[in-house]
Amino acid sequence: MEVDRVTEHNRRMWERLARAGIPYTRPQGRPPRTRAGMRRFLDPHGRLRGVRLAGARVLALAGGGGWDAVLFAKLGAETTLLDISRRQLDTVRELARKERVRARIVQGNMKDLARFADASFDVVWHSHSLVFVDDAARVLREVGRVLAPGGTYVLSTVHPTTMRLSGTFAGGGWRPSISYFADAPIPQRGKDAGVWEFGRKRVYAPTIEYAHRLETIINGIAAGGMLIDGLWELRPQEFEPPRRRPRHPPPGSDDHLHTLFPAYIQVRARRPRGALTR
Ligand SMILES: C[S@@+](CC[C@H](N)C(=O)[O-])C[C@H]1O[C@@H](n2cnc3c(N)ncnc32)[C@H](O)[C@@H]1O
Repeated sequence: MEVDRVTEHNRRMWERLARAGIPYTRPQGRPPRTRAGMRRFLDPHGRLRGVRLAGARVLALAGGGGWDAVLFAKLGAETTLLDISRRQLDTVRELARKERVRARIVQGNMKDLARFADASFDVVWHSHSLVFVDDAARVLREVGRVLAPGGTYVLSTVHPTTMRLSGTFAGGGWRPSISYFADAPIPQRGKDAGVWEFGRKRVYAPTIEYAHRLETIINGIAAGGMLIDGLWELRPQEFEPPRRRPRHPPPGSDDHLHTLFPAYIQVRARRPRGALTR
């Protein structure tokens, strides 16, 4: 496995977060038992509507820790999970055992999918992890290579504008930490920089994160030989587990920011069956 500096750093941070047991590193909630319920839990907005999962070859890309790979397997997919964090892979292995399903579980870097043959997946499901690599175009090229003709790619990630604004409110206004046109990692400043907080748990794990621009993502998907057929901009309440939100969020808080800009984007793309002319 090829591991660059950023990936190695983030691997260590994710192991630390997993050791501390923060929610992102563990399965959250309890999915329903019906097939329709499981699909809704996995894919609340129906981005995979019309895609047959029974018998499909699914790659849960950087999907360690959560339910996704196990739910694909329960829905009859031939499932592969790739993630860099061994501890989170162990969590999913254990969950698969409890749920009596099989999944192929591999430790790897999403920038290097060389272990997978061309056109070897019908679905690539890629949730909330593209920010942890420096070279999004390379990941998207790899996704396009391993996706079979007629296959579907679903990417969920943080909105690049919002990510540049988060935590930057000062003197009554938002002051982006870096320009939209800068491809550098998002700077971490202030006393809570690098601290992940969930309820009473506070873990110092300064992950290196990149707010890849929309043009990087869209053109990266195109360069990977895929055709985009949907782009959605989402509020946290459309994507995250329910929680009580303040009606009038304090200025400068993420809740405030998310009333102004979308928290997440989802992009869906298909690999055409015929040859693509570029
Ligand atoms: C926010 S978590 C998302 C987990 C899962 N996709 C989900 O939505 O529940 C980000 C995941 O990306 C993984 N990750 C970070 N950098 C990676 C890389 N270069 N290659 C593979 N996985 C990586 C982490 O180990 C972690 O499991």
